[in-house]
Amino acid sequence: MKLQAGILSLALVCGACSSNKSATETDVVKDGFDFASQQLKYAFTEVDSVMNNLTEEQKEKMIFAPRNIQPDGSLRLVASRDWCSGFFPGELWYMYEYTGDDFWKEKALEFTAPVEREKTNGKTHDMGFKVYCSFGNGYRLTGDSTYRDIMLESAKTLTTRYKDKVGAIRSWDHSTDKWDCPVIIDNMMNLELLYWAFKETGDSLYYNVATNHALTTLKNHFRDDYSSYHVVDYDTITGAVQKKQTHQGYSHESAWSRGQAWGLYGYTMAYRETKRPEFLDQAKHIANYIFTNPTLPEDLIPYWDYQAPNIPNEPRDASAAAVSACALYELSMYDQENAEKYKEWADKIVESLNGENYRAQLNGDHGFLLLHSVGSGNSKSEMDVPIIYADYYFLEALLKKQKLENTGSAIL
Ligand code: GLY
Repeated sequence: MKLQAGILSLALVCGACSSNKSATETDVVKDGFDFASQQLKYAFTEVDSVMNNLTEEQKEKMIFAPRNIQPDGSLRLVASRDWCSGFFPGELWYMYEYTGDDFWKEKALEFTAPVEREKTNGKTHDMGFKVYCSFGNGYRLTGDSTYRDIMLESAKTLTTRYKDKVGAIRSWDHSTDKWDCPVIIDNMMNLELLYWAFKETGDSLYYNVATNHALTTLKNHFRDDYSSYHVVDYDTITGAVQKKQTHQGYSHESAWSRGQAWGLYGYTMAYRETKRPEFLDQAKHIANYIFTNPTLPEDLIPYWDYQAPNIPNEPRDASAAAVSACALYELSMYDQENAEKYKEWADKIVESLNGENYRAQLNGDHGFLLLHSVGSGNSKSEMDVPIIYADYYFLEALLKKQKLENTGSAIL
């Protein structure tokens, strides 16, 4: 049953299939995937080159997945425990989804396998990023039951981080000198794995943990203008909010761009899974905050923080834009009144990202697709460089655009 669903989904978005849409409308999708097809083949040679020259220390760390370009110009590979380990395998599944070509499936299988060891890692909330982007896409497209088992174990592990008193999943275990129970807006993204586990098993634990987390975040993470704090720190004994801060944004009271995008995607997805009107309202408000923001440039690729001090002389964050585009395609299905506007914004983002200002050099830039993302402007790390999650969400946005235009649904 699942396998059939996977094959059907592949057929619906397959780039080789005929489309009802005009060539112009689908050009950006085809062009983006044609580029990705060449560039990711180059990425494999770049990964091999690092893997063939590993130091003993790197061998012990079991690094395998591209994350970003380092300040010295080198390619940084990470191990499964890094929060970014699932994005490269996820991209390869998207390549398989678009092309239907087994070459990409074989590569996706190869790069997905090392992520399995995360299924019992209860020390981080990033399970969704790691496992849903890799195994999740793989399971959706192949129906492989071993993938299902790995995902269910991962979802179970993630629920162990849920704090009853707080009503949310604890995000980080680090920085205990600053925070007791930090919950970050990014964590909204990891709920999709839990909603999936609920649908697979019928176990309401997954649904309740995810929905409580989304409700608690809605209550405490947002300002009156619907911008969000990055980190909210809770007292685990009383559940009370202790601090509202940033970790990667410009300041505690600023709006970190990727955080706003995680919120937009997170509440759009939470609405899909629950149909709770407050989640839809939240997504609409976040979209409005982002896309009416006076600092948002014309190409709709935001600066790394909406209040970064030296705008317009600040780096952009292509990753935030790519995440928002994914969310907007789906949000356009749920809010008829604003559907056209959401789709136009998303289309503008993918056009911008696919253009010369953001596209990496073919057979250069270590095989990344997009330039100009920021990891943490606050600590000046990964400043204005290619970062793997920008590429992942860019391909996801292209697939969602194509599917929305072909079928009326942006849900992959
Ligand atoms: N989840 C971490 C980040 O967005 O950088």
